[in-house]
Amino acid sequence: MAPYTGLFFCFLLWIFSPAVGKEFTITCLTSEECVLPCQFQSDGIGARIMWYKQNTVISCTRYGDTSFTKGHISQATEYKGRTRLYADQVLKGNATMVLKDITLQDQGRYVCNAITKPRVESHTIHLVVKAPVREVDAEFGPSSVICKAEGIFPAPTLTWSTDPPSDPQLLQNKTKSQKNQLGCYDIESSLMLVERNTIKQTYICCVSSGTNTKTLFLKHEASIQASPGGDVLIPCSFPRHVLQSFQLTWRFGRSDPIVSINITNQKPQVKVWDQWKSHVSNGVAASSSLKLSGLKSEHQGTFTCEVSTPEQKYVTQTDITLTEDCKNNIYSSVIIGLSVLMCLSVMAVMFLCYRRRRLERDRGGGEEEEEEEMRSLEG
Ligand SMILES: *[C@@H]1O[C@H](CO)[C@@H](O)[C@H](O)[C@H]1NC(C)=O
Ligand SMILES: *[C@@H]1O[C@H](CO)[C@@H](O)[C@H](O)[C@H]1NC(C)=O
Ligand SMILES: *[C@@H]1O[C@H](CO)[C@@H](O)[C@H](O)[C@H]1NC(C)=O
Repeated sequence: MAPYTGLFFCFLLWIFSPAVGKEFTITCLTSEECVLPCQFQSDGIGARIMWYKQNTVISCTRYGDTSFTKGHISQATEYKGRTRLYADQVLKGNATMVLKDITLQDQGRYVCNAITKPRVESHTIHLVVKAPVREVDAEFGPSSVICKAEGIFPAPTLTWSTDPPSDPQLLQNKTKSQKNQLGCYDIESSLMLVERNTIKQTYICCVSSGTNTKTLFLKHEASIQASPGGDVLIPCSFPRHVLQSFQLTWRFGRSDPIVSINITNQKPQVKVWDQWKSHVSNGVAASSSLKLSGLKSEHQGTFTCEVSTPEQKYVTQTDITLTEDCKNNIYSSVIIGLSVLMCLSVMAVMFLCYRRRRLERDRGGGEEEEEEEMRSLEG
């Protein structure tokens, strides 16, 4: 029995012993918080915890009675205000550090050094930093579609496709990717427009980095003619399956936001920008189309609907043009009509007068002639 108990005890020790010298890797995302775990054997009395990376001290803190160790090293300036330990957990043997505002420069090998009265322990963590594809943007140029994404690591790839599918030979693209000063990649690609009529196609731009992918679907709807002061219903296309949770933003032109709608599991949150409040109808969240009323000539242009989910973005562009102002037209036609009528009447009156004068003169002239004839006869 005794050897078995011994074995069992060893087994327990093996399970619960701190991972001395054990190294592991964690992955964190840029601009987020990163949790660097560190477990040590604590005597519950006092501990000095020092986190460092190469020769740089990231954090050096004391908990409880640490009279057994002298010396304090202040943290390097680039880590000031970025680190935090769970103070109430440290004497329980948990020296986990939270590092915030992660950048690519934070990649590397971290050491957690815990000094207690009975022992000194060090653990190593390899931190891998990734900058996922967060945003992809695309727009129609004069003869191409342009797609771009910024701040990505590791190096991204970009591919194009269309719906309905086009012959890949026809998808002529120019793609350039370059590192920015933060060490991340910016990528931009332009795809020559295959068809003159862009309305028939959805252009799909897919940007990937490692296992992370974001796909953008860009579509140009047929332009809509609206009459001034009237209503217009602008379409927004996206597949039904995204309906559970998404963010929808309507814009005018490149940047002017009109409405944003966030739909999560709770009820939709709707924000209408002030300058559009008088044009947007109340039930805007109930439908994916946007109904605008009271449009004026300054509202002519491109309206964009953007539906975003974590992995996809659906962009629909629609051009709105206003027909000529009808009221003005009626007024001017009436005025022109009246003027023509007046001219005609004046002319008619003048003509009649002329005719009458002429008649009178003819008659008068005849008499004179007759008189003359008579006189000559008499003479
Ligand atoms: C250490 O403490 C933090 C904060 O309470 C906790 O989230 C984490 O799980 C703890 N680590 C372990 C291994 O218990
Ligand atoms: C785009 O261009 C790259 C080379 O620059 C090429 O490998 C790729 O097949 C092209 N087509 C698409 C649809 O991405
Ligand atoms: C919707 O969510 C985005 C970020 O997810 C936020 O910027 C925006 O303000 C939110 N809009 C509303 C109306 O809550």
